[in-house]
Amino acid sequence: MTILVTGGAGFIGTHTLVELDAADHSFVVVDNFSNSSQKALTAVEKITNKPICFFDVDVRNEEALQQIFENQAAAGRPITTVIHFAALKSVSESVSHAVRYYDNNIGGLLKLLGAMTKSNVNNIVFSSSATVYGDPEALPFEENHPVRPKNPYGHTKAMAEQILDDWAKQDKKNKAIALRYFNPIGAHPSGIIGEDPNGVPNNIFPYITRVALGHLPWLNIFGNDYSTVDGTGVRDYLHVVDLAKAHELSVRYLEKSSEGFFKAVNLGTGTGTSVFQLVQSFELQCGVSIPYQIATRRNGDVSSAWANPQLAKNLIGWTAKLSIADMCRDGWNWQYKNPRGYN
Ligand code: UFG
Repeated sequence: MTILVTGGAGFIGTHTLVELDAADHSFVVVDNFSNSSQKALTAVEKITNKPICFFDVDVRNEEALQQIFENQAAAGRPITTVIHFAALKSVSESVSHAVRYYDNNIGGLLKLLGAMTKSNVNNIVFSSSATVYGDPEALPFEENHPVRPKNPYGHTKAMAEQILDDWAKQDKKNKAIALRYFNPIGAHPSGIIGEDPNGVPNNIFPYITRVALGHLPWLNIFGNDYSTVDGTGVRDYLHVVDLAKAHELSVRYLEKSSEGFFKAVNLGTGTGTSVFQLVQSFELQCGVSIPYQIATRRNGDVSSAWANPQLAKNLIGWTAKLSIADMCRDGWNWQYKNPRGYN
């Protein structure tokens, strides 16, 4: 049994490859390297000590995907499950380039499902996001909270979940899990792989590590007047290694289930951390001080978001184990050792 990992060279993809290998799964990778580097796969090879079979293919190329499924089957290593990461992921860019987001994220999923259907591949783990919920009616977010995304990126994730739900209903053999990530940060403890965003980071954690390096002068904290513990935004940060393990557990769950289904599952710790708390923890763990300025609220931000992660525990046996301190230490270890990322 082989797993196809699309977008395997990305932040969550690379960490998932390491966990798949540790659990003795074989995999092949598809990535178009539009927002990632082949060097990330070389780095994974350093950790696993095995060569990675990868294809420089865009997921919108259905024929190429089908060829991969066919070749794997012919070689006696049939693909039974797909983990689908390949997608565009910037909220702000999705507003200015909405059509590109629908084309990549929805077009890509449709082509992938087309190739899977033709090749009788019936299991998929989908990379979704807590952004599908939009503004919270109540916290923690439960999976049955209304889905009301607030930007094109979020719409693509919600639509993709709907497509997978319908795909699961069209054939009893089809099984799909959509993992709704909260805020993954940190890095593999080796410091060999980690997050490597292009340009100035949008997300808080890579922004903090670049301030710590001195590449950026200070952190802008987007609002200190929210009704939270200290006025700054609260999120459910989780360690990317914990998150990666959830993908391996999801694969196992899909492969052992006999009935077809679609399930959306939150992945978070169940605990909220404010921006100030995150910065303080980083300073304490890493011994670097982070200058900051209070800026206006960022458009579209919610005040607070955290998960109820009970379903992940019940369904796939997953709970987050690593702490905010672990996330800060490991994320800084990666950034410090690789100040220019993979370059
Ligand atoms: N923040 C700052 N300064 C920054 C960046 C962020 O103060 O420079 C604050 C934000 O206002 C927010 C918190 O830090 O309160 C977290 O912001 P991120 O941009 O790191 O993360 P978001 O929660 O906004 O979004 C992330 C992903 C989305 C995903 C969402 C799911 O970027 O793709 O989590 O909840 F959809």
